[in-house]
Amino acid sequence: MNQQTQAMYDKMRAKLEKVVPDVELRIKAEIAVEINALKVERNAVILGHNYMEPALFYSIPDFAGDSLDLSRKAAQTDKDVIVFCGVKFMAETAKILNPTKTVLLPSDKAGCSLAAAITADDVRALKARFPGVPVVTYVNTYADVKAESDICCTSSNAKAVVESLHTDKVIFLPDEYLGGNVARDLGWKIIYPDIALTPAPLPITGEGGTLIGWKGRCEVHEKFTVNDIQTVRAQFPDVAVLSHPECSPEVTAASDFSGSTNAMIKYVKESHAPQYLVLTECAMGDNIAAANPEKDMLRLCMVRCPHMNTITMEDTLNALKFNRYEIDVPEEIRVRAARSVQRMIGIG
Ligand code: 13P
Ligand code: SF4
Repeated sequence: MNQQTQAMYDKMRAKLEKVVPDVELRIKAEIAVEINALKVERNAVILGHNYMEPALFYSIPDFAGDSLDLSRKAAQTDKDVIVFCGVKFMAETAKILNPTKTVLLPSDKAGCSLAAAITADDVRALKARFPGVPVVTYVNTYADVKAESDICCTSSNAKAVVESLHTDKVIFLPDEYLGGNVARDLGWKIIYPDIALTPAPLPITGEGGTLIGWKGRCEVHEKFTVNDIQTVRAQFPDVAVLSHPECSPEVTAASDFSGSTNAMIKYVKESHAPQYLVLTECAMGDNIAAANPEKDMLRLCMVRCPHMNTITMEDTLNALKFNRYEIDVPEEIRVRAARSVQRMIGIG
């Protein structure tokens, strides 16, 4: 091991000794050194989502964080190349916000079940059924869907974005559960109209605020149940249960805290519970455990996001070596999508 690799190995080992086997750390330290050298050569910045596997998460990103955080970093960077260690909709958002940069996604298979759940045609059909009702779209969507929307949101600002519109009727896409959680927090109802039934405008009946939702789901977070929480609480009565707002409203209601990936990381760091159960993608559980070695993290790690999982350090190295996979967003779509994303960033 040369000096640089040894230094990288030592840095990774200090964090990951209890989380990643030593043999893997040695291999990954070598790759990390190669990536960092190419990063300098290509004047690149690496953004890593909180769901990246621990060895990657703790070695190569210049910035790690949740979707909102990383879109801000993507917008601000003056580097020539942005390598996005996340999924396609995140890399697209980087390109939308900073179009003159080369944006690379290390895998061409890093999709998202939520982003796949809705098309731009679906949004146009909804707008025709509910004329004049503003469209709030979760960032977990592709650029053409964002382009049809009035404003985007992430899991950390969804309620604030809806409130910023000062209206009591909002189309909220495409996550059934995030929509359900936001509606409950606002004291509104949520409806899921069957837009296939009629091409004509639909009336919204009843008093009070209404979210018009869509039945997309995150294939990871939909798997957690209230029964999971009850079973763990029966064994560990004082456990702090944290869940992502892409979990069902029943699961978030049964949790002690629900928030974005950054918010959950902060909660564990700043609180003192005898145990923690984090209901989200399981690599993040490892990353939190590594950052908080004195805390007792219970593992309910049955779900790794298959899309985030396609982003490896080997592929990140190849992304920089072979300039792949370059993200391109047609300018006419980009300009309209940028309006929705920038409006959201303005709200915070
Ligand atoms: P965050 O914005 O909370 O990081 O969530 C992104 C995501 O894809 C969750 O599944
Ligand atoms: Fe999409 Fe869920 Fe994976 Fe996040 S965890 S990228 S929402 S499939």
